[in-house]
This record gives sequence, structure tokens and C-alpha cells, in this order.
Amino acid sequence: MDSWLMFDVPTSHRSRMAKRLVRDFNLQRVPIGRLDGTTVVLQSQQGAEHLKEVLEHCNADPLLCRLINAGALCSHLIRGSFQQAVDKLKELIVQSHAKSIRIHSCPKKLDALIAGALGDCSFEFSPTSFSHCAFIAEIDSNLLLIGVDTRYFSFRVPEDCHIPVSKAYFKLLDAFERTEVGNQFLNEIGPKSWCVDLGASPGGWTEYLSSKRALVISVDPGSLNDSLSSRINVVHVRMTAEDALNECKRLIQESDFNRPGFLCSDMNVSSSKVLNLIEMYSFWIPSGTRLILTIKFHRIRDAESHRSEELAKALETLSKHWIINATEWLLFNTLHERTVFGTKK
Ligand SMILES: C[S@@+](CC[C@H](N)C(=O)[O-])C[C@H]1O[C@@H](n2cnc3c(N)ncnc32)[C@H](O)[C@@H]1O
Repeated sequence: MDSWLMFDVPTSHRSRMAKRLVRDFNLQRVPIGRLDGTTVVLQSQQGAEHLKEVLEHCNADPLLCRLINAGALCSHLIRGSFQQAVDKLKELIVQSHAKSIRIHSCPKKLDALIAGALGDCSFEFSPTSFSHCAFIAEIDSNLLLIGVDTRYFSFRVPEDCHIPVSKAYFKLLDAFERTEVGNQFLNEIGPKSWCVDLGASPGGWTEYLSSKRALVISVDPGSLNDSLSSRINVVHVRMTAEDALNECKRLIQESDFNRPGFLCSDMNVSSSKVLNLIEMYSFWIPSGTRLILTIKFHRIRDAESHRSEELAKALETLSKHWIINATEWLLFNTLHERTVFGTKK
């Protein structure tokens, strides 16, 4: 029997989340109709069991569970009117012997319509205490995806999940652990290496880097979170990146780690400024050093074509000193950011 996976995600994440899920779980995106801006529908050639595993996995994943609002396994694709879909949904609910139902719909505004359309039934509706959940996604005016299941995946962050110093931590975790190029970087530049973290405050990237590598030089005029002050491998250079150049050079040269390391920057400055600063560091940074750089676009010129143009210019400038290994739109990048991975020539 065919089945589909329906995910409700923030509109800003829809395309990259779909791409990521397709890539990581060997799924197919279902390109049907004009889906609501928050809905992603996926299918697997390995059937419903595989889709259930994907749901469980995403629900337990510290990155994905923060970005997906809800997910559901759907069993029927209805080509027909809204009422036909509701009738089928009612039939499925009756077959499931549900006592109480939570409705989850995409778009959300359908919740009340569905409850009304289901009319008098043998079950109750409850958003909090329910034996089954009924899912419905309107794909276009005569195409609807429905399902009834005992599990409702609301994608809450697990209670035992690590709470980092800042959300930016997840950007770096995504960069290193969920991209091929980042994984390769971690393998090639071993644990006994140094990292320079430009624009480090409040310290999410420093927190991540200092748990993986031997020395982190955190450059920011702002403060680092108190929890990082006890880390003996973190040195906070409380200066701007422009002023910290010699101090960074000295710290790296005096340390035992005078080999390629990581130059990371998440500074909230314009792309032209960050490129100037990276160039200043490029003159003495050892060859083979890896770069993880957040490029922040000019928000006033807010169009995809402008972002692509600005990124292309940035990559051209960077390529003077750096081999560009990849450019990613990470899950924790904002709409106005891209992450560049490079290697010092
Ligand atoms: C988005 S925050 C960085 C968040 C950080 N990556 C984390 O994980 O917590 C941007 C930081 O860039 C810093 N910044 C802006 N201009 C800078 C400069 N010229 N030199 C150093 N830091 C700068 C700001 O002080 C701010 O703390």
C-alpha cells in the first residue's frame, strides 16, 4: 500500500529541509500541486516501515526536531473534493476504533473546517488527550493527503537534549557533522589543532569547537558565556578581529599546534567587511587551514538573485587565498546567510 510522509516546517525552511530529508533518508519528494508553504510531502520506495523509521529518527534528532513542527504518516491521496477527503477520513477513524481524535491539518486553518465537516461522530475531539491523530494536507483544491495514526509527532526537543550557549552552535554542528565536506574537514584536521573563532560571543561556536579541538581562540569585543570561562582550552581575545590579528598569530605560534587549524567566522558584518578581515588573516594563516565562514547578505537587497550575485562575488574574492570546497545553505543559516567551506592555498 502506498504511503506518504507529511512534514510541517517553517516556510523559510521548506526547500532546504526537503532537500536534506531526501538526501539523508533516500526519499523522493512528491511534486504534487501547490502545496501549502509549510508542507513537505515525501515518499519512500522502501514503503511505510521505512517512513515510520524516518519519522522516529527526525523526532529524536537534535537539529531536525528543532525545525520541524509536526510530521505524519499518511495512507491516502484523495483526488476529489474536500468533502470526499473528509468522508474518507471519517471512515478511517471509524475503522481505527479511535475514542478521541486530535486533528492536524496543513494549512492549519483547516482544523476547524474538518471538525465541522466530520459532524456528529462516535469519537471526541481533543488536542491534548487523544487515542489517535487524524492528518489532512490540502495539496491543491482537489488533491488531499490524509491519514489516521495512533502516534502524533509534534517534534518537541527531548528533555535530555543539550542546551547550548547559543542557537548558532547548531549551525556549526550542522556544518561539521551533517555535511560531507565538514566531516572531511574534521577528519583531516585532527583533535590537536587550533581554531580561531571570529565573532565568538556569546560562544556557541566556541562551545562546539572547544569540545572537539585542543585550542580555541575566541575573538569578540563582547562577552563569552560564563560556562566557557572554565574551559582551559578557550582563550578569549576581547578585541575586534581587526585588532586581534597579532594576538591570534602569537597565540598560535606559541602553542604546540603550529600547523593548519580552523579559521571560523560568524561575525555579523557585511560580506565586504568579512572578506577584508579574512584576507588580513589569510596572509599568515598556515596553508591547509580550513575555513568555515558565514556570509551575511545585505538585507535591503532582499531577492534570491541579489544573494546569488553577492555570494558569487564573495567566492571570487576568497578564491585569491582559499580553495572553495563547498557552499551550503545550512539548516540553521538564516534566509540571509550561506556557509562557505574553504582550504587555505
Ligand atoms: C551572530 S554573533 C556570533 C554568534 C556566535 N557564533 C555564537 O556561536 O554564539 C556575531 C558576533 O560578531 C561580533 N562581531 C561583529 N563585528 C566584529 C568584529 N569586527 N570583530 C569581532 N567580532 C565582531 C559581534 O560582537 C557578535 O558577538
